[in-house]
Amino acid sequence: MCGIVGAVAQRNVVPILLEGLRRLEYRGYDSAGLVIINGGLKRVRSVGRVAGLEAACTAHQVHGNLGIAHTRWATHGVPSEANAHPHVSGSLAVVHNGIIENHEALRIRLKAAGFTFTSETDTEVIAHLVELYYRQTQDLLAATRAAVAELEGAYAIGIVCEDSPNRLICARKGSPLLVGLGIEENFIASDVSALLPVTQRVMYLEEGDVADIGLLAVSVVDAAGNPVDRSVHISELSADMAELGNYRHFMQKEIHEQPRALTDTLLTAVAQEHIQPEWFGFDAAEVLGKVNAVTFLACGTSYHAAKVATYWLEAIAGIPARAEIASEYRYRTSVPNPDALIVTISQSGETADTLAALNHAKALGQDKTLTICNVPESALTRASRLKFLTRAGPEIGVASTKAFTTQLAALCLLTLVLAKLRGRLSVEQEAAYLAELRSMPNKVQQVLALEPQVEAWSQRFANKHHALFLGRGVHYPIALEGALKLKEISYIHAEAYPAGELKHGPLALVDEDMPVITIAPNDQLIEKLKSNMQEVRARGGELYVFADGDVHIEESAFVHVIRLPGGSNGLLSPILHTVTLQMLSYHAALQKGTDVDKPRNLAKSVTVE
Ligand code: G6P
Repeated sequence: MCGIVGAVAQRNVVPILLEGLRRLEYRGYDSAGLVIINGGLKRVRSVGRVAGLEAACTAHQVHGNLGIAHTRWATHGVPSEANAHPHVSGSLAVVHNGIIENHEALRIRLKAAGFTFTSETDTEVIAHLVELYYRQTQDLLAATRAAVAELEGAYAIGIVCEDSPNRLICARKGSPLLVGLGIEENFIASDVSALLPVTQRVMYLEEGDVADIGLLAVSVVDAAGNPVDRSVHISELSADMAELGNYRHFMQKEIHEQPRALTDTLLTAVAQEHIQPEWFGFDAAEVLGKVNAVTFLACGTSYHAAKVATYWLEAIAGIPARAEIASEYRYRTSVPNPDALIVTISQSGETADTLAALNHAKALGQDKTLTICNVPESALTRASRLKFLTRAGPEIGVASTKAFTTQLAALCLLTLVLAKLRGRLSVEQEAAYLAELRSMPNKVQQVLALEPQVEAWSQRFANKHHALFLGRGVHYPIALEGALKLKEISYIHAEAYPAGELKHGPLALVDEDMPVITIAPNDQLIEKLKSNMQEVRARGGELYVFADGDVHIEESAFVHVIRLPGGSNGLLSPILHTVTLQMLSYHAALQKGTDVDKPRNLAKSVTVE
């Protein structure tokens, strides 16, 4: 979604801002803009890609030592130049992420005070409100503090003013914002990846903070106006982690990075001989030892990871588990269980619905919370008592791949920890599971070698309008994830069903134009699955089957089979089957010529409701 970059330096900041915006492109956006202070205030905005903004900056010869920049994902008002940020009022300009819920009331008040609005956005009220107080106080920091005190909703904002050529003001509540510390130059950004070419030293702002940033110093006050110190972190990420290298798309790169991402995620765990609750935090044994159920809260692909885990937890750890879509849970009346472990799963750690669902669970007295997240210092990691950081590295493709499989790896660990704490694992089982985990990266590597076969299949998909994905048991959520991947990036309508449900509806759709992708692991349901496949064939449907190596399925003109290496893969099976479906979607999208890494209408980090 929207992205913010700002810089105050003794050099031209335009290239820094543009590179920062480019690094935020993956979040999804539809317009971009920047303001530079150099004598006066110079604003450039454009609809579409950052490349267009760069061309406009070159054409207008924009340069200067202070600036703010923004990528906008439209919420209030269409994608247009007038609605693109920064928004200007008098001598100052504002960029904003989040949503101001009381914008209508503020707009009426500000219009009555004589301000003219030039956009349909909620953000423009912030610019005028700060300007209103700036006229009264002539103090940019005081004006910002007075303005944000009146804002309801979520915001991360950056402000520059032509009267203060070496000063950047920023504030946050509900939307992430960090300060990047350089040598005699400083920066702000909504995501650390925007600043990696200029600094890895970052200070994460807390809820309600307002920061005053100069060339040499950064001072922060909290919501009450007290000066506060926020600790400085050195980001583990490096600038080249977000480079494409030899790959055609980030999604392809990220699919192929999975052996490395899984190795990094499992590193601490597999180096040990025994399963340890402390993988989830120093007091995890105490918290996890007391829980009698698990409730997962997540959205999108992360929700599918949660659904997989419910099967593992009930079967292996013997603990009741359920997965809820965060945007549903936060508004429904539910029965709280103070002894349930509340687990949020999120690649970004900032998804508004997941965060709100966690806060809702806590408000209901459920304080045993764990987050599985790919971003340290994100809102979810801070709001949760226990945390497990997946080490997928930056995921740029909007369609989640390595973040998903590393979530599954983390959920394997959670299952084993709870199983051990509940006395459900023998010494032999513990050793066997750890050995399985150690083999995971290598087995994923072997599945990646199937890419040419999967690519050949994808050629038959590009002209289809619909596809059906079938799985059973723990592979049903993998079918859901396969269908989601296909629709996200190829725009082919895809649905997933537990194969046993076919005859209760979806069979009506099956004909020779409906490819039916089937996940066929060698588990206790395989014979039942084969019967479901017969039901498809009897209606003329064409089957594309991903099967374990030792599953016997007769191939024919309408039954195509790709075999995964080896026999049944036990705990790892859903992860391995996921990789084949990722490759299928990727190649189907390539055939269709869609924008694989930035599919239409979607965003990587959904920071609004
Ligand atoms: C967006 C992304 C998905 C992601 C979902 C949940 O829709 O495009 O890839 O699964 O948000 O995001 P989260 O960061 O909470 O995992």
